[in-house]
Amino acid sequence: MPTPTESVGWIGIGRMGYAMAERLAKSGANLTVWNRTREKAEPLAKSGAKIADSLADLASCDIVFVMVSTYHDVHEVIAGPHGLLSAPDVATKLVVECSSISLEGSAELRAILAARGIELLAAPVSGNAKVIKAGRLSFVCSGPRRAFDLALPYLKMIAPAASYVGEGELARIVKICHNVFLGVVTQSLAEITVLAQKAGVPRHAFLDFMNQSVMGSTFTKYKTPAFVNLDFKVTFTPELLRKDLDLGLDAGRRFEVPMPLASLTRDLLQSLIGHGTKDEDFAKMLVHHARSAGIELEPENVAVSDGLSQGDAR
Ligand SMILES: NC(=O)c1ccc[n+]([C@@H]2O[C@H](COP(=O)([O-])OP(=O)(O)OC[C@H]3O[C@@H](n4cnc5c(N)ncnc54)[C@H](OP(=O)(O)O)[C@@H]3O)[C@@H](O)[C@H]2O)c1
Repeated sequence: MPTPTESVGWIGIGRMGYAMAERLAKSGANLTVWNRTREKAEPLAKSGAKIADSLADLASCDIVFVMVSTYHDVHEVIAGPHGLLSAPDVATKLVVECSSISLEGSAELRAILAARGIELLAAPVSGNAKVIKAGRLSFVCSGPRRAFDLALPYLKMIAPAASYVGEGELARIVKICHNVFLGVVTQSLAEITVLAQKAGVPRHAFLDFMNQSVMGSTFTKYKTPAFVNLDFKVTFTPELLRKDLDLGLDAGRRFEVPMPLASLTRDLLQSLIGHGTKDEDFAKMLVHHARSAGIELEPENVAVSDGLSQGDAR
């Protein structure tokens, strides 16, 4: 398939943004990237991306992707005093917003962009940076169908899967539900792993069985090395997961849906953060739970698969 010809801008070269933009650049997209901390973006030059000095430099791009932390940050990079829309002439036709944000924030962003004649595709994602590198990321998208069609060739450069779920902000609630599940599943996996260990089963043996059982998943597999060997190099911070549980609880209040498991998980995660876990992976929920059970975990130092490596069928 020939490379599509739109010029593409990218805002936000964090853990996710870097890996996503790198795939676009390596696929031959005409890409210009901007990051608040410029040094983090600079290595992308070797993959063919141009590095912008200001957000306004991206205003000549046909399509602009955004991958920052919260809605507050999205608002700042788009509509803030030095944001994309501060440029005198904005040629951008479409913004593809990939951060995990609220329905309300997304609707406000859509209105801000519409006032400047720009369409919005809400396009949050499932998967961490390692998942992106393994070519296993998935997008869930909502907004005008033609916006999805315009973005699709670029989404496909980044991820094999892009689901279109309808108009407006529907993709946001799908992503919020997804991450509530992520939090609750992680807490549950921590509880049963500690239970099995305290009863005498090594974590690697327990998780080997779980991963092959009907309850095993891509997620339980790729968290297995962290659970077994206690390597908590961050893929997703506890604070960002707390943001998503809060988005889920807010949505539960808005739509009057009880969320007892999400609520409890949010407080357990808060307790982990309160004990100082900020720059480590949220999978450290395991260690925190073990302490509640009166045990201090040790790395098992067993080579275990994350299920993402090439040729890894499990
Ligand atoms: N990590 C995951 O596994 C994962 C998976 C799916 C979705 N998500 C979602 O993806 C988004 C990004 O997550 P991440 O893990 O990539 O986070 P991250 O590594 O902390 O990166 C955050 C990015 O946002 C930028 N940023 C934050 N506030 C900003 C502001 N006010 N102005 C300009 N730039 C700002 C940061 O710039 P600096 O470099 O200058 O700090 C950085 O580029 C979040 O919404 C998260 O919930 C994450």
